[in-house]
Amino acid sequence: MTKKVAKLTLEGSNEIIELPIHEGTIGPDVVDVGGLTARGMFTYDPGFVSTASCESAITYIDGDQGVLLHRGYPIEQLAEKSDFLETCYLLLNGELPDPAQKAKFANSIRYHTMVQEQLSDFFKGFPRNAHPMAIMVGVVGALSAFYHDSLDITNEEHRRIAAYRLIAKMPTIGAMCYKHAVGQPFMYPRNDFSFAENFLHMMFSTPCEEPNISPILAKAMDTIFLLHADHEQNASTSTVRLAGSTGANPFACISSGIAALWGPAHGGANEAVLTMLDQIGDESRIDEFIKRAKDKNDPFRLMGFGHRVYKNFDPRAKVMRQICDEVLEDLGVENDPLFRIARRLEKIALEDEYFIERKLYPNVDFYSGIILKAIGIPTSMFTVIFAIGRTPGWISHWDEMISNPYRIGRPRQLYTGHARRDYP
Ligand code: SDX
Repeated sequence: MTKKVAKLTLEGSNEIIELPIHEGTIGPDVVDVGGLTARGMFTYDPGFVSTASCESAITYIDGDQGVLLHRGYPIEQLAEKSDFLETCYLLLNGELPDPAQKAKFANSIRYHTMVQEQLSDFFKGFPRNAHPMAIMVGVVGALSAFYHDSLDITNEEHRRIAAYRLIAKMPTIGAMCYKHAVGQPFMYPRNDFSFAENFLHMMFSTPCEEPNISPILAKAMDTIFLLHADHEQNASTSTVRLAGSTGANPFACISSGIAALWGPAHGGANEAVLTMLDQIGDESRIDEFIKRAKDKNDPFRLMGFGHRVYKNFDPRAKVMRQICDEVLEDLGVENDPLFRIARRLEKIALEDEYFIERKLYPNVDFYSGIILKAIGIPTSMFTVIFAIGRTPGWISHWDEMISNPYRIGRPRQLYTGHARRDYP
């Protein structure tokens, strides 16, 4: 089959530059522009709006159709039929586990959920009101100080054990951030609890009484982790890949992903949605905020709306909205004023020309915050939960890159500063 090429002609020259086109399994083809440097030119794409940074087989998104596939399986089916740990296995290994593989994987994760005891001393250095993401960035990066037996990134076994440790310890460290903030003792993970049940146990149990975790809330928590598990080359995953391309250890790479996720334009949006709903305060004020969201001179954005890729409903938001209905009803707070404001905000925005024209739909963060608040999770912990859910995605992309030929990521620039000049 003839190879597809893109032909580039430059003004003032009759040279035709042929650029190879690569085709994926599904989705857009890519033009390989690597050869342009030899001709003294770069491509220019601030924000990487139309740049494929790598080849990957983990997750596929079709933004126009609102499609999200993990190793080919639609997110709606995984949310309905799978669970978070099985989805972690799928992202890491490329196939769904059989029952024996699933049990072995769950066991491997279970026996890595504890952190080294002296790690709890780190928390003594943080003020009680430290943002939990500030602690997560520090403590997760510091894990590399403990695990010299899993830092040889060229060793597949080291990469695997590092992946298990990170997936297993993120909820433990996340819950420790919360306990530190409320001045309660850290709770150890329990091996008789499932992943999400354990997280809620470490968050809300105390040594004074037997744990009492609602199975409905544990299931909702598990699905929230699952819905956040991976999302192609988003800002934090691209950060993890870039850090990994220098040969940095996996704990440092995941810490860089946590830092990037923290921003309100990315994973920090779920916390920002709740702040916005609190700010709106009443359905009568929605129009005022819709107006502000459209005003170019006003930095206010409708948090939880819009997406670089989705120009349709984020399929995760649809599942999240259904969980929201179920959890609020189960808790008897279906008339929660914030939920009512959110539903009305969504309805108004989806009928407003400004949002329709720009294809701004609710994204994964729009409803997650309302569910987490209903479960009793403080707003400052929302992005920590996003980070716990996203860890298998980050580590799968890191492993996919490191286990294949790769080069250090080193973008160039369009230089618009001073030409050479001599010191006066
Ligand atoms: C996540 O990449 C991922 O996959 C991320 C994520 C993942 O799973 O990893 O899906 C998770 O981060 C979801 C997004 C969470 N962020 C928010 O909810 C914050 C609010 N959203 C916006 O900040 C914005 O929509 C972004 C950052 C999500 C996308 O930014 P883009 O792609 O750079 O889009 P843009 O800023 O160029 O917007 C295009 C237009 C602009 O107007 P015009 O210049 O065309 O007139 O839409 C407007 C923007 O002003 N716009 C909004 C808006 N989002 C975009 N206007 C009001 N409210 C908004 N939320």
